[in-house]
Amino acid sequence: MNPVELIKKKREGAALSENEFKHLIDGYLSGEVTDYQISAFFMACFFQGMTPQETKTFTSLMINSGVVVDLSHIQGKKVDKHSTGGVGDKVSLILAPMVAACGVPVPMISGRGLGHTGGTLDKLESIPGFRTDLDLNEYKNVIQELNLVMIGQTAEIAPADKKMYALRDVTATVQCIPLIAGSILSKKIAEGIDALVLDVKTGRGAFMRSIEQATTLAHTLVHLAEEFGKETFAFLTNMDQPLGSTIGNWLEVVESVICLRSAGDIPYGSSDLMELTYAQGAAMVLLGGQANSLQEGRALCEQAIRSGTAYSKFIELIERQGGEISFIEDLDTYPRSRFSADIHATEDGFLTDINPLELGYAAISLGAGRIKVGEAIDPKAGIVLQKKTGEVVRAGDVILTIYTDREDQLLSVKERIRQAIKVGPSKVALEPLIYSLISKNGTRTWL
Ligand code: URA
Repeated sequence: MNPVELIKKKREGAALSENEFKHLIDGYLSGEVTDYQISAFFMACFFQGMTPQETKTFTSLMINSGVVVDLSHIQGKKVDKHSTGGVGDKVSLILAPMVAACGVPVPMISGRGLGHTGGTLDKLESIPGFRTDLDLNEYKNVIQELNLVMIGQTAEIAPADKKMYALRDVTATVQCIPLIAGSILSKKIAEGIDALVLDVKTGRGAFMRSIEQATTLAHTLVHLAEEFGKETFAFLTNMDQPLGSTIGNWLEVVESVICLRSAGDIPYGSSDLMELTYAQGAAMVLLGGQANSLQEGRALCEQAIRSGTAYSKFIELIERQGGEISFIEDLDTYPRSRFSADIHATEDGFLTDINPLELGYAAISLGAGRIKVGEAIDPKAGIVLQKKTGEVVRAGDVILTIYTDREDQLLSVKERIRQAIKVGPSKVALEPLIYSLISKNGTRTWL
C-alpha cells in the first residue's frame, strides 16, 4: 500500500478501511511512513473529518498499538478522569486522592503542559523526588497498594498516540475531533479502566473555543467510549477565566494542598476549583459503584475532604512515588522565585475579565511552561490571583502577583497581563462553570 494514495483518498473525502488505517499507524511506528506523510494525512483528516466507523477503527488501532493493561486483579471498578486542558486546572491533584479515599481505585495517566495549558505531570514533578515514570509493574503495584497511582504515558501504553500527539502539536492538527477522540480514549482505555469521567472545556482558555465544538467532542467521546464498553460521563465546563487562584506548577500544588487540608472550608479564590472537583468526584464515585446517586457521591467526597482522608491519601501517594513530603507538610520550605511583582487595579469598579489564554502564555514566559518540546520548566514560576472575575476592586488593590527567576521577562509579562485584565463600572454576569453532563442517557443541564 502506498501512503501517498491513502493521504490522497482522505484528502478527497473518502473513508479509509481498517487495513488502510493499520498500514498508516503501523508504518508510522516502524518508521516506514514518515512524519511529513502522517502530518499531511492528519491535515486531510482535519478538513475532511472521519465517519463514526472510521473514528472507531482508528481508536481501536491506537489502543492496540501497545499494551492494554489488565487491572482485573484489583477489586472494584477502576475509574479515571481526563480534562481536555485548561489554565490553572489542578482538579486532578485533589480529585484523584479524594476519590481513592472514597474506595474507588483511580489509575491515572496524565500528560504534560501543552500549548498554553498546564499538565498534571509537570505539577506532580514540582514536588522534589516525585516519580511519574513508573514502569507497568510498579504502576500495577502502586494501584494495588494505595487504590491510587498517578503516572505519565509509558512507552508501552498507546505508543502510536505518544508519537502522533507530539507531531500534531507542531503541525496545527490538534483541534480535529476524531483525532482528539482517538488520542484521549486510546490512552485511557489502554491503562485498564472500567469507567471514565471527562472534563471537556470550552471558552478562550480551552482548545475547543465554541460550545458547539465542545459539545460535539463530548458526545463523540461518550458514544465511542461506551462502544468500547467503558461507562463514561462528560462534563461540559467553562474555561473563560483561570480555575482557582494559581497558575504554575508548584503554586498549583500549594493551592491543592490547602484545599485538601481545608477540612471543607473552601479557601478564598478556590471555590470554582472545588465546585468542579466535587462534581467530577461525585460522578467518579457513582461510576465506581460506591454511591447510588451523584448527591450521595458528592457527600462522600465532601466527607473525604472534611475528615482529612483525601489529604492522607495524597501524602501516601507522594511518599510511595518517591516525593519528599516535608515540602508538602511545610509548604514554606520550598525555594522561592527570585523576583515577584504585583499587578494593581488602576481604577475602582468590578473585575470584568481575566483572559485565561493570555495568562496561560504569560505563565509560560515566566518559566512555568515550555515553548519547545522537552524544555526544562521552572516549577516555582507562575501567577497567584488575589481577585477573580466579578469581584469589586478599588484603585491600588493587588489583582495578582507574578513569580519568576527571569528578570528579563518582568516588564513584558506585566504589560501583557495588564492588557488581559479588564475593570469596568458594572458587574458582568458570569457564565456557568458547568454547563451540562453528557452520558449515554442524554444531556442533563447542570444547575
Ligand atoms: N488531549 C489529548 O490527550 N489528546 C488530544 O488530542 C487533545 C487533548
